[in-house]
Amino acid sequence: MINIPKGTKDILPSQVYLWQHVEKTARETARRYGFREIRTPTFEHTELFLRGVGDTTDIVNKEMYTFLDKGGRSVTLRPEGTAGVARAFCENGLAGGAMPFKGYYLISAFRYERPQAGRLREFHQFGAELYGSAGAFADAEAISLADAFLKSLGLCEVSLQINSIGCKQCRAVYQQALRDYFRPHLAQMCEDCRARFEKNPLRMIDCKEEGCKRYTAAAPRMIDYLCEDCRSHFEQVKELLKESGIHFTVDSSIVRGLDYYSRTVFEFTSSAAGAQGTVLGGGRYDTLLEQMGEKAVPAVGFAAGLERLLMVMAAEGASIPEEPKADCYLLGMDELSRKKAFSLAETLRKSGISCEIDLMERSVKAQFKYADKLGARYVAVIGETECREGVAEVKEMATSSSERVKFEELAQYLLQRKK
Ligand code: HAM
Repeated sequence: MINIPKGTKDILPSQVYLWQHVEKTARETARRYGFREIRTPTFEHTELFLRGVGDTTDIVNKEMYTFLDKGGRSVTLRPEGTAGVARAFCENGLAGGAMPFKGYYLISAFRYERPQAGRLREFHQFGAELYGSAGAFADAEAISLADAFLKSLGLCEVSLQINSIGCKQCRAVYQQALRDYFRPHLAQMCEDCRARFEKNPLRMIDCKEEGCKRYTAAAPRMIDYLCEDCRSHFEQVKELLKESGIHFTVDSSIVRGLDYYSRTVFEFTSSAAGAQGTVLGGGRYDTLLEQMGEKAVPAVGFAAGLERLLMVMAAEGASIPEEPKADCYLLGMDELSRKKAFSLAETLRKSGISCEIDLMERSVKAQFKYADKLGARYVAVIGETECREGVAEVKEMATSSSERVKFEELAQYLLQRKK
Protein backbone atom coordinates (compact mmCIF):
# COMPACT_ATOMS: atom_id res chain seq x y z
CA MET A 1 0.00 0.00 0.00
CA ILE A 2 1.14 3.55 -0.68
CA ASN A 3 1.15 5.43 2.62
CA ILE A 4 0.41 9.06 3.41
CA PRO A 5 3.46 11.36 3.10
CA LYS A 6 5.29 12.10 6.36
CA GLY A 7 4.00 15.18 8.17
CA THR A 8 0.57 15.17 6.51
CA LYS A 9 -2.75 14.00 7.92
CA ASP A 10 -6.07 12.72 6.65
CA ILE A 11 -9.02 14.49 8.18
CA LEU A 12 -11.64 11.77 8.37
CA PRO A 13 -15.41 12.31 8.36
CA SER A 14 -15.55 11.63 12.11
CA GLN A 15 -13.21 14.60 12.68
CA VAL A 16 -14.35 16.97 9.97
CA TYR A 17 -17.16 18.50 11.99
CA LEU A 18 -14.56 19.74 14.51
CA TRP A 19 -12.71 21.48 11.70
CA GLN A 20 -15.93 22.90 10.34
CA HIS A 21 -16.75 24.26 13.78
CA VAL A 22 -13.37 26.04 14.00
CA GLU A 23 -13.68 27.33 10.43
CA LYS A 24 -17.20 28.56 11.01
CA THR A 25 -16.10 30.33 14.19
CA ALA A 26 -13.23 31.94 12.28
CA ARG A 27 -15.52 33.18 9.50
CA GLU A 28 -18.12 34.42 11.94
CA THR A 29 -15.58 36.29 14.09
CA ALA A 30 -13.93 37.82 11.00
CA ARG A 31 -17.35 38.98 9.80
CA ARG A 32 -18.01 40.75 13.09
CA TYR A 33 -14.77 42.68 12.66
CA GLY A 34 -15.44 43.53 9.01
CA PHE A 35 -12.77 41.25 7.53
CA ARG A 36 -13.73 39.67 4.18
CA GLU A 37 -12.35 36.44 2.80
CA ILE A 38 -9.54 36.51 0.26
CA ARG A 39 -8.33 33.42 -1.63
CA THR A 40 -4.92 33.28 -3.26
CA PRO A 41 -3.14 30.41 -5.04
CA THR A 42 -1.61 27.47 -3.19
CA PHE A 43 1.66 28.06 -5.01
CA GLU A 44 3.44 31.25 -5.98
CA HIS A 45 6.67 32.20 -7.72
CA THR A 46 9.51 31.26 -5.37
CA GLU A 47 10.84 34.82 -5.58
CA LEU A 48 7.77 36.07 -3.69
CA PHE A 49 8.69 34.15 -0.56
CA LEU A 50 12.42 34.90 -0.88
CA ARG A 51 11.58 38.58 -0.77
CA GLY A 52 8.39 38.42 1.25
CA VAL A 53 9.21 35.99 4.05
CA GLY A 54 12.91 36.86 4.08
CA ASP A 55 16.09 35.00 3.21
CA THR A 56 17.40 34.81 6.77
CA THR A 57 14.41 32.81 7.99
CA ASP A 58 14.32 29.06 8.65
CA ILE A 59 11.25 28.92 6.43
CA VAL A 60 13.10 30.16 3.36
CA ASN A 61 16.43 28.52 4.12
CA LYS A 62 15.27 25.07 5.14
CA GLU A 63 11.57 24.50 4.84
CA MET A 64 10.18 25.48 1.46
CA TYR A 65 8.58 23.03 -0.94
CA THR A 66 10.16 24.44 -4.08
CA PHE A 67 10.18 22.83 -7.49
CA LEU A 68 10.53 23.64 -11.17
CA ASP A 69 7.28 23.37 -13.11
CA LYS A 70 7.15 21.95 -16.61
CA GLY A 71 7.88 25.41 -17.99
CA GLY A 72 11.12 25.56 -15.99
CA ARG A 73 9.79 28.21 -13.55
CA SER A 74 10.63 27.91 -9.88
CA VAL A 75 7.44 27.77 -7.84
CA THR A 76 6.85 27.16 -4.12
CA LEU A 77 3.92 25.77 -2.15
CA ARG A 78 2.99 28.62 0.20
CA PRO A 79 4.66 28.27 3.61
CA GLU A 80 2.27 30.93 5.00
CA GLY A 81 -0.46 33.27 3.80
CA THR A 82 0.86 36.80 4.28
CA ALA A 83 3.14 37.06 1.24
CA GLY A 84 0.40 35.83 -1.14
CA VAL A 85 -2.14 38.30 0.24
CA ALA A 86 0.45 41.10 -0.04
CA ARG A 87 1.03 40.19 -3.69
CA ALA A 88 -2.72 40.03 -4.39
CA PHE A 89 -3.22 43.38 -2.64
CA CYS A 90 -0.70 45.07 -4.96
CA GLU A 91 -1.46 43.17 -8.15
CA ASN A 92 -5.19 43.90 -7.94
CA GLY A 93 -4.73 47.55 -6.96
CA LEU A 94 -6.69 47.05 -3.73
CA ALA A 95 -5.05 50.15 -2.25
CA GLY A 96 -7.27 52.11 -4.64
CA GLY A 97 -10.41 50.71 -2.96
CA ALA A 98 -11.88 51.39 0.46
CA MET A 99 -9.12 51.53 3.04
CA PRO A 100 -8.19 49.99 5.33
CA PHE A 101 -8.26 46.70 3.46
CA LYS A 102 -9.24 43.90 5.83
CA GLY A 103 -8.96 40.33 4.55
CA TYR A 104 -8.94 36.88 6.14
CA TYR A 105 -8.09 33.43 4.85
CA LEU A 106 -8.44 29.76 5.75
CA ILE A 107 -5.66 27.90 3.98
CA SER A 108 -3.35 24.94 4.05
CA ALA A 109 0.35 25.82 4.16
CA PHE A 110 3.47 23.74 3.63
CA ARG A 111 6.78 23.64 5.47
CA TYR A 112 9.39 20.92 5.27
CA GLU A 113 9.84 20.62 9.05
CA ARG A 114 10.65 17.69 11.32
CA PRO A 115 7.13 16.46 12.14
CA GLN A 116 6.03 16.13 15.77
CA ALA A 117 2.85 16.78 17.76
CA GLY A 118 1.51 20.13 16.54
CA ARG A 119 4.12 20.42 13.79
CA LEU A 120 3.26 19.16 10.33
CA ARG A 121 4.47 19.55 6.80
CA GLU A 122 1.01 20.38 5.56
CA PHE A 123 -0.91 22.38 8.17
CA HIS A 124 -3.84 24.79 8.21
CA GLN A 125 -4.11 28.42 9.15
CA PHE A 126 -6.76 31.00 9.83
CA GLY A 127 -5.11 34.34 9.10
CA ALA A 128 -6.15 37.98 8.89
CA GLU A 129 -4.38 40.96 7.35
CA LEU A 130 -5.15 44.67 7.65
CA TYR A 131 -3.56 47.15 5.21
CA GLY A 132 -3.42 50.91 5.18
CA SER A 133 -3.23 52.02 8.80
CA ALA A 134 -0.01 52.76 10.66
CA GLY A 135 -1.83 53.64 13.88
CA ALA A 136 -1.97 51.67 17.11
CA PHE A 137 -5.73 51.12 16.70
CA ALA A 138 -5.00 48.76 13.78
CA ASP A 139 -2.58 46.68 15.89
CA ALA A 140 -5.14 46.55 18.68
CA GLU A 141 -7.92 45.59 16.26
CA ALA A 142 -5.87 42.68 14.86
CA ILE A 143 -5.05 41.47 18.38
CA SER A 144 -8.67 41.92 19.44
CA LEU A 145 -9.89 39.81 16.49
CA ALA A 146 -7.39 37.09 17.37
CA ASP A 147 -8.46 37.19 21.02
CA ALA A 148 -12.18 37.12 20.15
CA PHE A 149 -11.63 34.13 17.84
CA LEU A 150 -9.86 32.12 20.55
CA LYS A 151 -12.48 33.08 23.13
CA SER A 152 -15.31 32.12 20.76
CA LEU A 153 -13.74 28.67 20.59
CA GLY A 154 -14.10 28.52 24.36
CA LEU A 155 -10.37 28.59 25.06
CA CYS A 156 -9.51 29.97 28.49
CA GLU A 157 -5.94 28.92 29.07
CA VAL A 158 -4.33 30.64 26.15
CA SER A 159 -2.19 33.62 27.07
CA LEU A 160 -1.09 36.62 25.02
CA GLN A 161 2.47 37.90 24.94
CA ILE A 162 3.37 41.07 23.11
CA ASN A 163 6.57 42.90 22.32
CA SER A 164 7.84 45.68 20.07
CA ILE A 165 10.80 45.06 17.80
CA GLY A 166 10.95 48.73 16.77
CA CYS A 167 11.45 50.26 13.35
CA LYS A 168 14.41 49.99 10.97
CA GLN A 169 16.24 52.86 12.68
CA CYS A 170 16.01 51.86 16.32
CA ARG A 171 16.37 48.17 15.51
CA ALA A 172 19.71 48.87 13.80
CA VAL A 173 21.04 50.37 17.05
CA TYR A 174 19.66 47.41 19.00
CA GLN A 175 21.14 44.88 16.58
CA GLN A 176 24.55 46.43 17.11
CA ALA A 177 24.07 46.19 20.88
CA LEU A 178 23.12 42.52 20.46
CA ARG A 179 26.20 41.78 18.36
CA ASP A 180 28.41 43.47 20.96
CA TYR A 181 26.77 41.34 23.64
CA PHE A 182 26.88 38.01 21.80
CA ARG A 183 30.34 38.38 20.20
CA PRO A 184 32.33 36.97 23.16
CA HIS A 185 29.95 33.94 23.40
CA LEU A 186 29.63 33.21 19.72
CA ALA A 187 32.03 30.25 19.69
CA GLN A 188 29.85 28.46 22.28
CA MET A 189 26.60 29.09 20.41
CA CYS A 190 24.86 26.88 17.84
CA GLU A 191 25.51 26.96 14.12
CA ASP A 192 22.19 28.71 13.41
CA CYS A 193 22.98 31.48 15.88
CA ARG A 194 26.42 31.97 14.36
CA ALA A 195 24.77 32.33 10.96
CA ARG A 196 22.18 34.77 12.35
CA PHE A 197 24.80 36.91 14.09
CA GLU A 198 25.53 39.11 11.07
CA LYS A 199 22.26 38.98 9.14
CA ASN A 200 19.57 38.92 11.81
CA PRO A 201 20.86 38.81 15.40
CA LEU A 202 17.28 39.30 16.71
CA ARG A 203 16.56 35.67 15.90
CA MET A 204 19.35 34.62 18.30
CA ILE A 205 17.04 35.74 21.13
CA ASP A 206 14.43 33.05 20.53
CA CYS A 207 16.91 30.21 19.90
CA LYS A 208 15.61 27.03 21.55
CA GLU A 209 19.04 25.38 21.98
CA GLU A 210 19.87 24.89 25.66
CA GLY A 211 23.49 25.96 25.08
CA CYS A 212 22.34 29.28 23.60
CA LYS A 213 19.57 29.98 26.12
CA ARG A 214 22.32 30.46 28.72
CA TYR A 215 23.36 33.64 26.94
CA THR A 216 20.03 34.88 25.57
CA ALA A 217 18.47 35.32 29.03
CA ALA A 218 20.74 38.26 29.88
CA ALA A 219 20.83 39.77 26.37
CA PRO A 220 19.88 43.44 25.87
CA ARG A 221 16.13 43.97 25.34
CA MET A 222 14.64 45.74 22.34
CA ILE A 223 12.19 47.56 24.60
CA ASP A 224 15.11 49.51 26.07
CA TYR A 225 16.20 50.66 22.60
CA LEU A 226 12.88 51.81 21.11
CA CYS A 227 12.92 55.28 19.54
CA GLU A 228 10.39 57.82 20.75
CA ASP A 229 7.82 57.06 18.00
CA CYS A 230 8.04 53.29 18.46
CA ARG A 231 7.83 53.61 22.23
CA SER A 232 4.74 55.79 22.02
CA HIS A 233 3.14 53.41 19.47
CA PHE A 234 3.75 50.46 21.79
CA GLU A 235 2.35 52.36 24.77
CA GLN A 236 -0.83 53.13 22.79
CA VAL A 237 -1.28 49.50 21.76
CA LYS A 238 -0.94 48.39 25.38
CA GLU A 239 -3.37 51.05 26.52
CA LEU A 240 -5.98 50.02 23.94
CA LEU A 241 -5.68 46.37 24.94
CA LYS A 242 -6.09 47.26 28.61
CA GLU A 243 -9.03 49.45 27.72
CA SER A 244 -10.84 46.55 26.09
CA GLY A 245 -9.99 44.06 28.82
CA ILE A 246 -7.55 41.94 26.79
CA HIS A 247 -4.98 40.46 29.16
CA PHE A 248 -1.36 40.34 28.01
CA THR A 249 2.19 40.24 29.25
CA VAL A 250 5.13 41.99 27.63
CA ASP A 251 7.74 39.41 26.69
CA SER A 252 10.96 40.81 25.27
CA SER A 253 12.00 37.41 23.87
CA ILE A 254 9.22 37.47 21.24
CA VAL A 255 10.86 38.34 17.95
CA ARG A 256 8.90 36.02 15.56
CA GLY A 257 10.41 33.75 12.96
CA LEU A 258 9.73 35.85 9.87
CA ASP A 259 11.73 38.84 8.63
CA TYR A 260 8.93 41.22 7.76
CA TYR A 261 7.88 42.44 11.19
CA SER A 262 8.31 45.88 12.68
CA ARG A 263 7.02 47.40 15.92
CA THR A 264 4.27 45.26 17.50
CA VAL A 265 4.71 41.46 17.53
CA PHE A 266 2.49 39.07 19.46
CA GLU A 267 1.87 35.42 20.20
CA PHE A 268 -0.91 33.49 21.88
CA THR A 269 0.49 30.41 23.59
CA SER A 270 -0.84 27.41 25.47
CA SER A 271 1.00 24.68 27.31
CA ALA A 272 -1.57 22.26 25.86
CA ALA A 273 -0.09 22.72 22.36
CA GLY A 274 2.90 20.60 23.47
CA ALA A 275 6.41 21.68 22.63
CA GLN A 276 4.86 23.82 19.90
CA GLY A 277 3.29 26.24 22.34
CA THR A 278 2.35 29.00 19.91
CA VAL A 279 -1.18 28.64 18.59
CA LEU A 280 -1.36 32.06 16.95
CA GLY A 281 1.27 34.59 15.97
CA GLY A 282 1.43 37.90 14.18
CA GLY A 283 2.47 41.49 14.17
CA ARG A 284 2.91 44.70 12.25
CA TYR A 285 4.83 44.61 8.98
CA ASP A 286 5.12 48.11 7.54
CA THR A 287 8.06 47.36 5.23
CA LEU A 288 6.95 44.12 3.57
CA LEU A 289 5.53 45.69 0.41
CA GLU A 290 8.64 47.82 0.02
CA GLN A 291 10.74 44.67 0.49
CA MET A 292 8.76 43.19 -2.40
CA GLY A 293 9.58 46.20 -4.60
CA GLU A 294 6.16 47.88 -4.19
CA LYS A 295 4.99 51.17 -2.71
CA ALA A 296 5.08 50.92 1.09
CA VAL A 297 1.71 50.42 2.80
CA PRO A 298 1.56 49.85 6.57
CA ALA A 299 0.04 46.51 7.58
CA VAL A 300 -0.64 44.23 10.52
CA GLY A 301 -1.96 40.69 10.78
CA PHE A 302 -1.76 37.25 12.32
CA ALA A 303 -2.26 33.56 11.64
CA ALA A 304 -3.43 30.74 13.89
CA GLY A 305 -2.51 27.09 13.36
CA LEU A 306 -5.72 25.05 13.26
CA GLU A 307 -4.09 21.71 14.19
CA ARG A 308 -2.63 23.29 17.34
CA LEU A 309 -5.94 24.93 18.17
CA LEU A 310 -7.72 21.59 17.95
CA MET A 311 -5.11 20.06 20.28
CA VAL A 312 -5.67 22.84 22.81
CA MET A 313 -9.45 22.57 22.50
CA ALA A 314 -9.27 18.85 23.22
CA ALA A 315 -6.92 19.36 26.17
CA GLU A 316 -9.09 22.11 27.66
CA GLY A 317 -12.28 20.12 27.03
CA ALA A 318 -13.74 23.07 25.11
CA SER A 319 -17.39 22.48 24.35
CA ILE A 320 -18.00 21.64 20.73
CA PRO A 321 -21.44 21.37 19.14
CA GLU A 322 -22.37 17.77 18.39
CA GLU A 323 -22.18 16.49 14.87
CA PRO A 324 -25.68 16.64 13.37
CA LYS A 325 -27.26 13.20 12.96
CA ALA A 326 -29.74 11.94 10.35
CA ASP A 327 -33.27 13.24 11.00
CA CYS A 328 -34.89 10.10 9.70
CA TYR A 329 -34.20 6.61 8.43
CA LEU A 330 -36.73 5.21 5.93
CA LEU A 331 -36.99 1.50 6.45
CA GLY A 332 -38.46 -0.50 3.56
CA MET A 333 -39.55 -4.01 4.58
CA ASP A 334 -39.80 -5.55 1.11
CA GLU A 335 -38.89 -4.74 -2.49
CA LEU A 336 -41.94 -2.54 -3.16
CA SER A 337 -41.58 -0.66 0.14
CA ARG A 338 -37.90 -0.05 -0.55
CA LYS A 339 -38.88 1.66 -3.80
CA LYS A 340 -41.45 3.77 -1.94
CA ALA A 341 -38.79 4.65 0.66
CA PHE A 342 -36.47 5.76 -2.12
CA SER A 343 -38.98 8.18 -3.66
CA LEU A 344 -40.13 9.44 -0.23
CA ALA A 345 -36.51 10.12 0.71
CA GLU A 346 -36.19 12.38 -2.33
CA THR A 347 -39.22 14.40 -1.21
CA LEU A 348 -37.97 14.69 2.37
CA ARG A 349 -34.50 15.79 1.27
CA LYS A 350 -36.01 18.47 -0.95
CA SER A 351 -37.74 19.83 2.16
CA GLY A 352 -34.41 20.05 3.99
CA ILE A 353 -34.68 16.87 6.04
CA SER A 354 -31.64 14.64 6.21
CA CYS A 355 -32.67 11.04 5.71
CA GLU A 356 -31.18 7.75 4.74
CA ILE A 357 -32.46 4.57 3.14
CA ASP A 358 -31.14 1.03 2.83
CA LEU A 359 -28.46 0.68 0.15
CA MET A 360 -27.13 -2.66 1.40
CA GLU A 361 -30.22 -4.86 1.09
CA ARG A 362 -30.26 -5.47 4.82
CA SER A 363 -32.90 -7.34 6.82
CA VAL A 364 -35.40 -5.32 8.89
CA LYS A 365 -33.46 -6.10 12.08
CA ALA A 366 -30.14 -5.09 10.49
CA GLN A 367 -31.70 -1.88 9.17
CA PHE A 368 -32.88 -0.93 12.68
CA LYS A 369 -29.38 -1.60 13.96
CA TYR A 370 -27.89 0.57 11.23
CA ALA A 371 -30.39 3.40 11.88
CA ASP A 372 -29.34 3.28 15.52
CA LYS A 373 -25.67 3.48 14.56
CA LEU A 374 -26.42 6.53 12.42
CA GLY A 375 -28.11 8.13 15.41
CA ALA A 376 -31.25 8.73 13.33
CA ARG A 377 -33.88 10.46 15.44
CA TYR A 378 -36.83 8.78 13.69
CA VAL A 379 -37.26 5.55 11.78
CA ALA A 380 -40.18 5.53 9.34
CA VAL A 381 -41.17 1.89 8.74
CA ILE A 382 -42.85 1.08 5.44
CA GLY A 383 -44.20 -2.37 4.67
CA GLU A 384 -46.85 -3.86 2.38
CA THR A 385 -49.79 -2.52 4.45
CA GLU A 386 -48.22 0.94 4.78
CA CYS A 387 -47.71 1.13 1.02
CA ARG A 388 -51.34 0.20 0.45
CA GLU A 389 -52.63 2.71 3.01
CA GLY A 390 -50.15 5.48 2.12
CA VAL A 391 -48.84 5.85 5.67
CA ALA A 392 -45.58 5.20 7.49
CA GLU A 393 -45.15 3.90 11.02
CA VAL A 394 -42.83 6.61 12.45
CA LYS A 395 -40.88 5.55 15.50
CA GLU A 396 -39.01 8.03 17.68
CA MET A 397 -35.86 6.14 18.56
CA ALA A 398 -35.20 7.80 21.93
CA THR A 399 -38.66 7.03 23.35
CA SER A 400 -39.69 4.04 21.19
CA SER A 401 -43.09 5.72 20.80
CA SER A 402 -44.60 5.56 17.32
CA GLU A 403 -47.26 7.24 15.23
CA ARG A 404 -48.78 6.54 11.84
CA VAL A 405 -48.16 9.45 9.47
CA LYS A 406 -49.48 9.89 5.93
CA PHE A 407 -46.73 9.88 3.28
CA GLU A 408 -47.69 13.36 2.07
CA GLU A 409 -47.57 14.71 5.64
CA LEU A 410 -44.27 13.07 6.60
CA ALA A 411 -42.06 16.03 5.60
CA GLN A 412 -44.16 18.47 7.63
CA TYR A 413 -44.27 16.05 10.59
CA LEU A 414 -40.47 15.75 10.68
CA LEU A 415 -39.85 19.45 10.03
CA GLN A 416 -42.03 20.42 12.99
CA ARG A 417 -40.08 18.11 15.26
CA LYS A 418 -36.72 19.31 13.97
CA LYS A 419 -37.22 22.80 15.49
P1 HAM B 1 3.87 31.73 11.92
O1 HAM B 1 4.21 32.03 13.34
O2 HAM B 1 4.97 31.17 11.07
O3 HAM B 1 3.33 33.08 11.30
O4 HAM B 1 2.65 30.74 11.86
C1 HAM B 1 1.42 31.05 12.48
C2 HAM B 1 0.88 29.82 13.20
O5 HAM B 1 0.79 28.73 12.29
C3 HAM B 1 1.78 29.30 14.33
O6 HAM B 1 1.54 30.01 15.51
C4 HAM B 1 1.32 27.86 14.43
O7 HAM B 1 0.15 27.77 15.22
C5 HAM B 1 1.00 27.51 12.99
N1 HAM B 1 2.10 26.74 12.38
C6 HAM B 1 3.24 27.21 11.85
N2 HAM B 1 4.01 26.21 11.38
C7 HAM B 1 3.32 25.07 11.62
C8 HAM B 1 3.57 23.68 11.37
N3 HAM B 1 4.66 23.25 10.74
N4 HAM B 1 2.64 22.77 11.77
C9 HAM B 1 1.51 23.17 12.39
N5 HAM B 1 1.23 24.47 12.66
C10 HAM B 1 2.11 25.41 12.26
C11 HAM B 1 2.88 33.20 10.02
O8 HAM B 1 2.65 32.29 9.28
C12 HAM B 1 2.59 34.63 9.63
N6 HAM B 1 2.20 34.63 8.21
C13 HAM B 1 1.50 35.21 10.50
C14 HAM B 1 1.16 36.61 10.12
C15 HAM B 1 0.12 37.02 9.36
N7 HAM B 1 1.87 37.68 10.46
C16 HAM B 1 1.28 38.75 9.93
N8 HAM B 1 0.25 38.37 9.25
